[in-house]
Amino acid sequence: MKLGLIGCGKMGRALLEGALKAGQIAAQDCIVHDRYKAAQTTLASELGTQSADSPSDTVANADIVLLCTKPADMLTMLAGIQTSNHPLFLSIAAGLSTTQLESALPEGARVIRCMPNTPALIGEGASAFCRGRHATEKDAALVLEFMRATGTASEVTESLLDAVTGLSGSGPAYVYTFIEALTDAGVAEGLPRDIALQLALQTVQGSAKMVVQTGLHPAVLRDQVTSPGGTTIEALTSLEEDGFRTATINAVRRAAEKSRTLGA
Ligand SMILES: NC(=O)c1ccc[n+]([C@@H]2O[C@H](COP(=O)([O-])OP(=O)(O)OC[C@H]3O[C@@H](n4cnc5c(N)ncnc54)[C@H](OP(=O)(O)O)[C@@H]3O)[C@@H](O)[C@H]2O)c1
Repeated sequence: MKLGLIGCGKMGRALLEGALKAGQIAAQDCIVHDRYKAAQTTLASELGTQSADSPSDTVANADIVLLCTKPADMLTMLAGIQTSNHPLFLSIAAGLSTTQLESALPEGARVIRCMPNTPALIGEGASAFCRGRHATEKDAALVLEFMRATGTASEVTESLLDAVTGLSGSGPAYVYTFIEALTDAGVAEGLPRDIALQLALQTVQGSAKMVVQTGLHPAVLRDQVTSPGGTTIEALTSLEEDGFRTATINAVRRAAEKSRTLGA
């Protein structure tokens, strides 16, 4: 398989590195292009990829083309592509629909639209994707495998990608805020900041792993640490009084709503 990458920024590089590390593709079969030449050269020297002078040259021999520019640059860049082959195009541009991508590409282009998140940069991403009109079952299977090299992946219908944006796309920011708040609370209770941060981080990471590894519902695990008349039920009561769960649900819904307006 030959892979083309257009836009060698943070996300493009992360996805490429994930596929290389997973052994899905060989570096010499990857051809990359960025309008900032130094970005191409860096990937060539650090990862061993080939460089292309233009988006059209990137697409020319590729089986799959990763579209990783910012959304504002994407449609103009796509409209300039001249190609006689028919690769699969995988876009990660937030807010650009498969219809918009297909309209900018040659007629009949196979397009898949994906919403990753930034933990993909360390191989811990959560992504979901949808197919355009011409993408096949085989294309979806390829993208599923490809995205799993940098975390988890699921296929959804396009109408659900705004929900994905609200939950996992913007989600890291909610979790960072929670970690910061936990740390500040520890400091307020007298803990040195570095110890408070370490405790907060390990608590969030360990709890997430407990849910994954036990397969138990989060509420079951929560009940297991909530002893009658104890400290945890005091804290949980306080969280309920302050609307913690409603605030979280509202935040995801607001982000999804914003995503819908951006795509409209
Ligand atoms: N970061 C996230 O959390 C996240 C999450 C989900 C999805 N995404 C999506 O991922 C995409 C990339 O984000 P990023 O954070 O990786 O951005 P980034 O670091 O700015 O990378 C984009 C790269 O594409 C280059 N580029 C722009 N126009 C180009 C063109 N016409 N031809 C070739 N290269 C071009 C940019 O060059 P210049 O530097 O010269 O502009 C830059 O090097 C965006 O569409 C974003 O919506 C990001």
